[in-house]
Amino acid sequence: MPSLLRTLLLGIFLASLTSGQITSPNYRIDVHSHAIPSIWKDAMTAAGFQVKNGTLYNDGVPVPDWTLDSHISAMDTLGVNYSTISITAPGVSFVKNAGKAKLLARSINLILHEYTQAHPTRLGALCLLPLPHVNEAIEELKFCLDSLKFVGVGLYTNANGVYLGDPALGPVFAALDARNASVFVHPASPTCTSVALGYPMPMTEYPFDTVRAIENLLLTGQRAQYPGLKMIFAHGGGAIPYLATRIAGIATLSYAGGLAFTETMAQLTGYYFDIARATSAIQLTALKSFIGANKLVTGTDYPYVPLSQAQSGLAGVQVNGNFTDEEMGYIKYQNALEIFPRIASALQRR
Ligand SMILES: *[C@@H]1O[C@H](CO)[C@@H](O)[C@H](O)[C@H]1NC(C)=O
Ligand SMILES: *[C@@H]1O[C@H](CO)[C@@H](O)[C@H](O)[C@H]1NC(C)=O
Ligand SMILES: *[C@@H]1O[C@H](CO)[C@@H](O)[C@H](O)[C@H]1NC(C)=O
Ligand SMILES: *[C@@H]1O[C@H](CO)[C@@H](O)[C@H](O)[C@H]1NC(C)=O
Repeated sequence: MPSLLRTLLLGIFLASLTSGQITSPNYRIDVHSHAIPSIWKDAMTAAGFQVKNGTLYNDGVPVPDWTLDSHISAMDTLGVNYSTISITAPGVSFVKNAGKAKLLARSINLILHEYTQAHPTRLGALCLLPLPHVNEAIEELKFCLDSLKFVGVGLYTNANGVYLGDPALGPVFAALDARNASVFVHPASPTCTSVALGYPMPMTEYPFDTVRAIENLLLTGQRAQYPGLKMIFAHGGGAIPYLATRIAGIATLSYAGGLAFTETMAQLTGYYFDIARATSAIQLTALKSFIGANKLVTGTDYPYVPLSQAQSGLAGVQVNGNFTDEEMGYIKYQNALEIFPRIASALQRR
């Protein structure tokens, strides 16, 4: 089995690291944390995002104050050795002009790159793509992965209503697959914002949008076309652990696609899920039973999840999930190293 082979190679790699670089079980990789460069906030303000009492709001949530230094010190407080940084939704999709969206994405990617150059053993960047503009997104993907050597790519569940799974995104998936890219999928707001009844989008619409994207990837056949692409969905896969058997059951019916139940379940459990805001006993018990410790990765969603909540969340993972020390090693860093070979080489190069 290829995954067994990978695990074996990973073991050899880990053993080959020089003294104490990665010391199980203390090492921790956070795949879900956000940088908030001021150029991005300025662009949102200029585009008319709500500003209340001097604070910018995005999807109903105040955009936190953030600096590179505060990020590193938060990592120290959380016991996080290495973080991948990305831009949260909506990325640059609020810029409607393709050329301008690409320019903004490029500026932000260059800033993310600077952050990682300042802390090469602590930070890796996930490329921001100017979707739904496919050609511009592919150019940016090539620039980030091939020239800047980013550790992976960030996608959103939808970009202006174009969901993962949409045939229009075929060339993007082909370009990702050709590079064995490591992909992190962050939830976004659906375009019909009225469904949230005025409540903050991340509270429930983000997890539901993750379900929509995973469902669309299933029912359009796009995931089946690229089954080897390593994809992480945030926040415990949204509501997928709870809804997967329902989706797979309905998908067996001819009017919904007539897909084989076991194949659907295999596809849905073939992703990785991070545990940001999914650290309660109820959530971790479901995740452990649905996808297992070999498919879970650590995420904090800092700074959108405040430091104190991220800290207590991480502190409860082992007990709440009743995970063994070995399982904790997978969740804390071993799975992330398998998903992101470029992190492994960055640490090895040290
Ligand atoms: C990882 O972080 C932990 C907690 O902050 C620390 O004890 C450990 O030495 C770090 N490991 C490496 C290799 O930096
Ligand atoms: C507005 O901002 C000021 C300064 O940050 C703060 O002291 C005040 O409480 C805020 N008012 C409201 C209504 O949020
Ligand atoms: C992608 O991974 C496959 C299998 O792991 C390997 O055969 C292929 O050479 C890799 N391609 C690239 C571009 O790294
Ligand atoms: C915790 O997991 C162990 C196996 O690792 C199992 O024996 C035990 O029953 C579990 N405890 C609970 C409360 O589920």
